[in-house]
Amino acid sequence: MRKVYLDNGSTSYPKAPGVGEAMSDFIIHVGCNVGRGGYETAYQMGEVIYETRQQLCELFHFPEPKNVVFTPSVTYSLNYVIRGFLKPGDHVIMSSMEHNAVARPVKAMEAAGCAVSIAPCTPEGQIIPEELEKCFRENTKLVVTTHASNVCGTILDVETVSRICHERNVPYVIDSAQSAGIIPIDFTKLGLAALCVTGHKGLLGPQGIGAMLLTDEMAQAMDPVILGGTGSASHLLTMPDFMPDKFEAGTLNLPGIVGLHAALKYLKETGIEKIRELENARVDQFIGGVTKIPGVRVIGLPTSEGRVPVVSLDFQGIDNADVSFLLDSDYGIMTRCALHCAPLAHQTLGTFPEGTVRFAFGHTTTEEEVEYAVRAISDIMGDGSAASRE
Ligand SMILES: Cc1ncc(COP(=O)(O)O)c(C=O)c1O
Repeated sequence: MRKVYLDNGSTSYPKAPGVGEAMSDFIIHVGCNVGRGGYETAYQMGEVIYETRQQLCELFHFPEPKNVVFTPSVTYSLNYVIRGFLKPGDHVIMSSMEHNAVARPVKAMEAAGCAVSIAPCTPEGQIIPEELEKCFRENTKLVVTTHASNVCGTILDVETVSRICHERNVPYVIDSAQSAGIIPIDFTKLGLAALCVTGHKGLLGPQGIGAMLLTDEMAQAMDPVILGGTGSASHLLTMPDFMPDKFEAGTLNLPGIVGLHAALKYLKETGIEKIRELENARVDQFIGGVTKIPGVRVIGLPTSEGRVPVVSLDFQGIDNADVSFLLDSDYGIMTRCALHCAPLAHQTLGTFPEGTVRFAFGHTTTEEEVEYAVRAISDIMGDGSAASRE
């Protein structure tokens, strides 16, 4: 049976050309650690790491490579920021569209003596400025939101959130898991305090590598959550206070960084505008097709406008989990069902606790693959138009 991968919201596939080759070349042919080896290969690898920090700076319009900290993923970045910055007695705001990568560390801080507000969003997953404004208190120290929903794809109006935060002088942190590499992000224009990034979704890199981009103020205010060797200031029994070492304890994921380096090179050469154009075309084709099928409800916005290439469907008269199972077992179409680690978002969208079936497209998803998926759904829903099982 053929295979059609429509789970790019979980992780992108295929990865950018050159990623696998660069990683395997590093593992097979390069022996070194960085900051721990006094030899030429280690210095060369140090340059690749620096270049990767620079690539992230360029992509996100961020001025300071030393403040680009490598982490294992956006989940780690968010934990480092939320748990390293907040202190008991502080108040933090998140939106009602958050993934558990934000919601769980924020709620854990509540247990540790912080106060938490959840700014309600619309049933399409958009921020409501007046509601957000109402959440602020005297002791509000941080606002953290996702940039785009991993459930329905809605792009949050981060410009407005940022303006509201700036008016109150409160740092704003973005979870870019679903937006990085898919829509432009300008750290400087948005005036962010921190941007949390994962390498394996829209950036088309490997799993196990992410980053956080921090302003100097944020880097100073945060305590490191993970402590250990940095290959620098080794006479101290405390973490160095300079960047990025303050937050990079332990050996970095060098194969991951090499892979991310190759992916970022590809993204630059291809251009994210081009990628977005291709993905939007697939989203509109898919939504256009499934809305004609009785018993299928599209969650969130009606077209590709204002969304990343993630579409959630709710099926009437058949269990969503059964649809997802049949798509895989009978048609080889890979989707993700249930709550997508985002119970708050599903509550906001009115799809809790059943969840939805999520279809997430990539720029290499073809028109024919989308047509096949629409026919498969139509077939499962008994719409009369049989999908060919190839
Ligand atoms: C919005 C959002 N935030 C955070 C994450 C966590 O990403 P990772 O598993 O790469 O840390 C995801 C992954 O699905 C996500 O969609």
